[in-house]
Formats: sequence, structure tokens, C-alpha cells
Amino acid sequence: MNFISATSYADDLRDLEIFLEKAVSDDNFVKEICTPLISGGKRLRPILFLLCARSGKNYFKEKSLPLATALELIHTASLVHDDILDGAKKRRGVETLNAKFNAQIAVLVGDYLFAKAFQLVAENNYGDRVSLILSNLVKNLCIGEIMQDRALFKIPTLNEYYNRINLKTAFFLSTCCRLGGIISELKDFEVENLANYGTSLGLAFQIVDDLLDFFGEEKVTGKALGGDLKSGVITLPVIRALQAGKNSETLKKILTQDKISDSDVETSIKIISESDAVEYCRNRAISHIECARLDLPSDIQKSEKIYLEQIANFVINRNR
Ligand code: FPP
Ligand code: MG
Repeated sequence: MNFISATSYADDLRDLEIFLEKAVSDDNFVKEICTPLISGGKRLRPILFLLCARSGKNYFKEKSLPLATALELIHTASLVHDDILDGAKKRRGVETLNAKFNAQIAVLVGDYLFAKAFQLVAENNYGDRVSLILSNLVKNLCIGEIMQDRALFKIPTLNEYYNRINLKTAFFLSTCCRLGGIISELKDFEVENLANYGTSLGLAFQIVDDLLDFFGEEKVTGKALGGDLKSGVITLPVIRALQAGKNSETLKKILTQDKISDSDVETSIKIISESDAVEYCRNRAISHIECARLDLPSDIQKSEKIYLEQIANFVINRNR
């Protein structure tokens, strides 16, 4: 992402890369396989954390950077495990660890990244409040994924879909914003408002992600099209096309097959495009982004507020 122009932010982001690199340098093999993993992400979570941390009057870089790093490491660990669960072959344009090596190595590398995150937290004495917030975050990520796994190939209600994306995505973005506010000692109501901004942003982010799974460009997203459908994860575009589209019977039949082929994905994309599902999903994402903007506290630093608004624009317009 490229909205951070002030020097001090640029410094933070550059140092974040150094921290991340250092975090995966314990062992040569681990370093070799983790370096591509930690390169190439959008850094959305640490950026949100850092901007919220900077949005108050008490920003301390030394105190903030290890936690920003830990958040990106937890995210990367969760993606490594997610790729095993999804049987995904590509992430960020490169082969996943489960495809390149095997699921065993991928589980262990995910665990390693996860352990490194908590090492950084312990070494920097953030205290019980931060540890509790982080353990709650990981707990919710896991519950979201368990819910998703138990509902594979089943058509969720809107409520079930929202519950899942809240736990697996929105709660993470909200936690980053909350922690940023806490670390720079913002007032409680401001922390809550930032956390609400993160939740709405996260809901929109996941809806856009679910659209990109059908309509993204593989070269840009770095992931194969139709991955959700093939692994049985039924998302908002499909839920809507089933409700409102013609040919919903054909779509339903595809969803209940044991194996979904590339041509099934193509047919599904056509059915979704012919319904109003894309417009419906975009409108929902836009309305979450509008809520996110309204949740931004009025009294925070002006430049950070502008950046947080720009992130909201990015989330709705992103193609990767
Ligand atoms: C990507 O979503 C994955 C997640 C948002 C969360 C994954 C969480 C776990 C596997 C729980 C374990 C957590 C840890 C910390 C070890 P997606 O599948 O919708 O997006 P994608 O298309 O990028 O895969
Ligand atoms: Mg996935």
C-alpha cells in the first residue's frame, strides 16, 4: 500500500520490514522458507495498528513496532495454516508451503511464526491486557475457521456468513485498531470508535475478498480463481445468486458435488454475473465502509484520520 507519505511513517514501515526479517532468522532453513512468506503482503494489519497508535498524542515508536510485527506474524501464521485447510497451491503469487513441501512442514512453520509473535510480545512487556486481547484474537480466528470448516458445502444464512467473516477477518482488523488506540493511551470511547472502524472495514474487506475469489485477476490477487468454491466455502456472491439469480438450481447442484472442476467454477461465475450478486455485494461492502468512516473519532490527529479514510477507499477499490 502506498498512502503513507510522511517520513516518520515511512521510517516505521521500513523498520517493520527489518523487524519481520529478524523474526524469522533463527535458523537457515526457516529463514529461507519464511522470507518469501513475509514478503509481499499488504501489511494492512500493522499499518492499521501503527496509524491508530499515531492517532493520539502519545506515540512511542519503540513500544509500537514489536507489536506491529507480532500482528503481521500472527496474520502470516494464520494464512499458512489456512492454505493447508483450503489445500491452496498459490498465495501472493508464490507456491504455498503445503504445495512446495507438505502439510507437516507448513503446520510447523505456521506454529513457528505464531511462537515468534508471542515471543515479541513477552519480550516487550506489554502486560496482561495486551496478551488477553491477542489470545482472544487468535481464539476468534480459530472459531471462525472451525465454523467455516463445519459448514463446508452447506449454504449459510446471511447471519451465519456474517458471523464467520466477523470472527475470521473483521475482528482481526478491529483488534489492530483497538491495540493502536490502547498503546497510545487514547480515551476509552476513542479506542472503541477505532475498534468499530476496524470491524466495519474488516466486513467490507472480506466481502471484497469473496468477490475477488470469483472476479479477481489471478496475476494480481496471486491466488487461483474459485478457490473458495472448490474448497466448499460458500460466500456472499453465491448466497445472493442462489436467492436471486436464474439458474440457481444449476448453481446449487454444483455446490453439492464432491469435486468442483474448473468448468464448474466457470459456470458458477457466469451464473453469479447474470444475477445481481456482484452489485449486491459491492453495495453491502460500500455501506460497511460508510459506517467505518463515520466511526472514526473526530479528535484524533488529522493526518492519521486522512490515512485511515484512504485505507477505507483502498479496501473497497482494491484488486488484490
Ligand atoms: C484467510 O481467509 C484466512 C483467515 C482470515 C484466518 C485463518 C485462520 C486460521 C487458519 C486459524 C489459525 C490461526 C493461527 C494464528 C495459527 P480466506 O480463506 O477467506 O482468504 P484467502 O482467499 O486469502 O485464503
Ligand atoms: Mg483461504
